[in-house]
Amino acid sequence: MTAPAAPANADTNQTKSMDDIMALCKRRGFIFQASEIYGGINGFWDYGPLGAQLKKNLRDAWWQDVVMKGAGGQLGPNGKPVSIVPVDSCLIQNPKVWEASGHVGGFNDPMVDCRETKARYRADHLMCMGKKGDKQGQIYAFIEHDDASFDAALKKLSKYVKQELSKDDVDVCAFTGLSAEEIAITVGPGTKEVGTLTAPRAFNLMFKTYVGATASEDDIAYLRPETAQGIFINFKNVVDSTRVALPFGIAQTGKAFRNEVTPRNFTFRSREFEQMEIEFFCHPSETKAWYTFWRDWRMAWWQSIGLKGDNLVLREHDKDELAHYAKEGAGTSDIEYRFPFTAPGFGELEGIADRTDFDLRQHAQHSGAKLEYFDTTRGELAPNGQPKGERYLPHVIEPSAGLDRGVLAILCESYTKDDSRPSPEIMRFHPRIAPIKAAVFPLVNKDGMPEMAAKLTSELRQRFGHLGFIETDAKQSIGKRYARMDEAGCPFCFTIDGDSLTDQTVTVRDRDTGGQERIAMDKVSGFLAEKLGV
Ligand code: GAP
Repeated sequence: MTAPAAPANADTNQTKSMDDIMALCKRRGFIFQASEIYGGINGFWDYGPLGAQLKKNLRDAWWQDVVMKGAGGQLGPNGKPVSIVPVDSCLIQNPKVWEASGHVGGFNDPMVDCRETKARYRADHLMCMGKKGDKQGQIYAFIEHDDASFDAALKKLSKYVKQELSKDDVDVCAFTGLSAEEIAITVGPGTKEVGTLTAPRAFNLMFKTYVGATASEDDIAYLRPETAQGIFINFKNVVDSTRVALPFGIAQTGKAFRNEVTPRNFTFRSREFEQMEIEFFCHPSETKAWYTFWRDWRMAWWQSIGLKGDNLVLREHDKDELAHYAKEGAGTSDIEYRFPFTAPGFGELEGIADRTDFDLRQHAQHSGAKLEYFDTTRGELAPNGQPKGERYLPHVIEPSAGLDRGVLAILCESYTKDDSRPSPEIMRFHPRIAPIKAAVFPLVNKDGMPEMAAKLTSELRQRFGHLGFIETDAKQSIGKRYARMDEAGCPFCFTIDGDSLTDQTVTVRDRDTGGQERIAMDKVSGFLAEKLGV
């Protein structure tokens, strides 16, 4: 990978406050609550000017490295360049797609309602505690990874047993493991009454809509819950219309919609979000090698754009965690990030799964289309010494990443507090991803400096404007302008001062160190190109 090294950030995210990060996101125009002037809408988020560019830069980096360079330009396990082509499929497809994929029948989350507070929970996110050794006593539910909810449950249990309990005095189990009798003696988070939680019920996550004017049951369609199926249903079209040959991948970025039971943690679990997915098709005998290849390269990619250090981990799934289609496969792993709200635990950023031939087989069966691939490089040798060819359903390795979660991880990783700096909050974005690439300041708004600044700004916009903003700002003291840029995560500021007029040099200020150096005005463009890795 050619991208420049990311700035080191030793913070493990355990000390960063999500409230601070969310406040900065709103104040500086990264992320806003959707429909905010109407009181918002739960699970939906809008991106402001800096957020929209940050998100685009991350999507573009993925697109460039995955699709255009073919897995960053490395050779695959077969010793050949990796071939990836893109598609852009519809959000709404024939509903039979979602029957075949299993989403209509099985894309459910277990949902629990509280009759007292009217709160709704994902059953698999609820945990329960009871006093150790006390089988008959009351059970108190709390929300997994939520310290406040745990403490509240412990306090209530202590009051019930009239004894100050610590976390070592309680047994903890999953709510999904409780019997109906046990649910009846459970106290829900934030409730006074006992037994107000319902038993878990399956809830389909797909958003329904109607296609056409009559809006009858026959016109029901679904907003796609993943971009992946748009790739599988176009597999044959891509093979027939391009010169791709197995092994190869099809990639797509775009919106996905899930009517999540409990959207929360800022954009982490939203109802509308964007995915960046690759379906990599290969011969069944090659899945292990390609699985390992994608898993390792995807981890290296996230590191290359700034998620370095202990906050990023690769976690191989245990066999009992695997999706139905992945049980027979080469493996499944998650790339996980330690968000401030999951710390000391981690949250999924991207999953890498061997989907076997599950999806192509399902679509072939449901649609009647022949989705087998004829591989001319395989099969027995004919008398002329050439392979006779082999017909088979390819197996698929799927690296599936969340764009919004990627942006959120980058925001959390970049957020740095340093009270010794004029702006105590600094966004240390990797230069490649930073929404503002550079700022140009006239030291004072007179003596020819504004004109020189305008000329340099224009030159830099010509060369780098497709990568992000080139800002210019003449208001307030230079210290305040640097501080504003630090908070927006602009990696480099160029200042035109009195000397610039005579010796044609400018000051470059580095966001991360605050250090300054002088360089020739005509070297600014080259300097920036090198720093941005372009
Ligand atoms: N095609 C496979 C698939 O969709 P997934 O684990 O359900 O797998 C892939 O989703 C990625 O999409 C996740 O790793 C996550 O980054 C992102 N994602 C899933 N649900 C999300 C949600 N409700 N909000 C934001 N991102 C989500």
